[in-house]
Amino acid sequence: MITVLGLGFVGLTTALGFSKKGFKVYGIDVDAARVESIRRYEVPFYEPHLEDALREELGHNFVVDASLEEAVNDSRAVIICVGTPGLPDGQANLAYLLDAVREVFAVSDADYRVLVVKSTVPPSTVARAVQPFVAELSQQYGKQLGLASNPEFLREGHAWNDFMHPDRVVVGVQDEAAKEVLAELYLPFNAPVHFVDFSTAEFVKYLSNTLLSTLVSFANEMAMIAHHIGGIDVPAAFQLLHQDRRWSGTPAAMASYVFPGCGYGGYCLPKDTAALNSIAQTHGYQPKMLPANLQINEDIKDFVVEQIAAQVTPQQRIGILGLSFKSGSDDVRLSPSRAIIEKLRARGYTRIVAYDPMANEVFARETQLPIAYADSLPELVEQVDALVLLTSWPEFRQRRELLASKPLFDFRYALTEQQVQHPPLVPLAR
Ligand SMILES: NC(=O)c1ccc[n+]([C@@H]2O[C@H](COP(=O)([O-])OP(=O)(O)OC[C@H]3O[C@@H](n4cnc5c(N)ncnc54)[C@H](O)[C@@H]3O)[C@@H](O)[C@H]2O)c1
Repeated sequence: MITVLGLGFVGLTTALGFSKKGFKVYGIDVDAARVESIRRYEVPFYEPHLEDALREELGHNFVVDASLEEAVNDSRAVIICVGTPGLPDGQANLAYLLDAVREVFAVSDADYRVLVVKSTVPPSTVARAVQPFVAELSQQYGKQLGLASNPEFLREGHAWNDFMHPDRVVVGVQDEAAKEVLAELYLPFNAPVHFVDFSTAEFVKYLSNTLLSTLVSFANEMAMIAHHIGGIDVPAAFQLLHQDRRWSGTPAAMASYVFPGCGYGGYCLPKDTAALNSIAQTHGYQPKMLPANLQINEDIKDFVVEQIAAQVTPQQRIGILGLSFKSGSDDVRLSPSRAIIEKLRARGYTRIVAYDPMANEVFARETQLPIAYADSLPELVEQVDALVLLTSWPEFRQRRELLASKPLFDFRYALTEQQVQHPPLVPLAR
């Protein structure tokens, strides 16, 4: 049994979705007019398929005329779907969410149940605001409630299908009991359910939405640049961009660009990004994203150096793993490794040994940097105090036990065990 608090786009869809999957669901909303409309089988906003689901479920598994107390005490999970509107300073307004938590505590009996935060809240909100609030209320009311963070990825206009057929379900939990309840809720959906910690779950939602907003702004900045340069068929150019085969496939190869590391390098991306930024200005348009893009590519290298400097002293010997700008290439032009080694040297780190399966010689020749080189991975590992992985060569993944014998900075996140499995490959329709 489930209670859903807040019957807006997310809440009503969630309530009807779980109801359709066979759970008894109580829907609660503080807006009496909204509840009245739902009672009349009228969805208070436009969303395809919801009206049909409402007709099927209301009076069957879905109940809207129970009191909050009745609903909560008959539920194993209370899913909070109230609004989290933006405040003028950009912060999320958590007042509705915290009010809802308090209301649940006020009526809940002593049985264990889980409060599920489905409203979108910025990363760290559950850990830093909701969890302490729950601990305080637990003391005050003498009850223990479990806590889970379960961001929702549905799109308005596709809410029903997105909810009923999720590509993945993300759940932040801390205790086994809450995990069990959430696993049971999503079992009928036959979708991968990934359990992570609270803040990671929250962050995934913001990764998703800010990537989308960044892509939209990127496209709009590009369109403005194109109009300033003139003579460019903007829609044709974007349609041709979409023909890149890296957009398709499962997972699409484009995903490898949306993964953190220590910066882009090589012959093309740095100079081409700088050149478009420059020609736009020649034509009277000052780009905003391109300079930010270039600046972030510098900042990430400073970040890497700061991380090393926080844990390694200049007297210690550093082993650099990887010199080429990406694996599978011996190109060292504008390689992040070069900039990072130069920055380390500028901070007094002079005891540097490097190893690259392909690019030792070309790097030495091109950069003339006064560092030492190792001919093999074991030779490098043996003589250093800390390892710094800067290029994700397969050899490094294959020898992860050897690398683990020394303190290791994996700035490409190349050695982390893959926690999230990609869905099985689906053959492309021809
Ligand atoms: N709309 C979307 O496409 C979408 C998608 C994913 C996530 N989200 C997130 O989900 C959350 C809800 O979004 P929405 O679009 O459904 O909001 P909404 O404004 O449509 O609905 C929120 C509902 O909560 C009710 N409510 C407020 N306080 C309550 C309380 N104490 N008890 C019971 N009901 C209460 C309100 O009356 C309202 O009906 C937000 O955090 C939003 O960011 C929205």
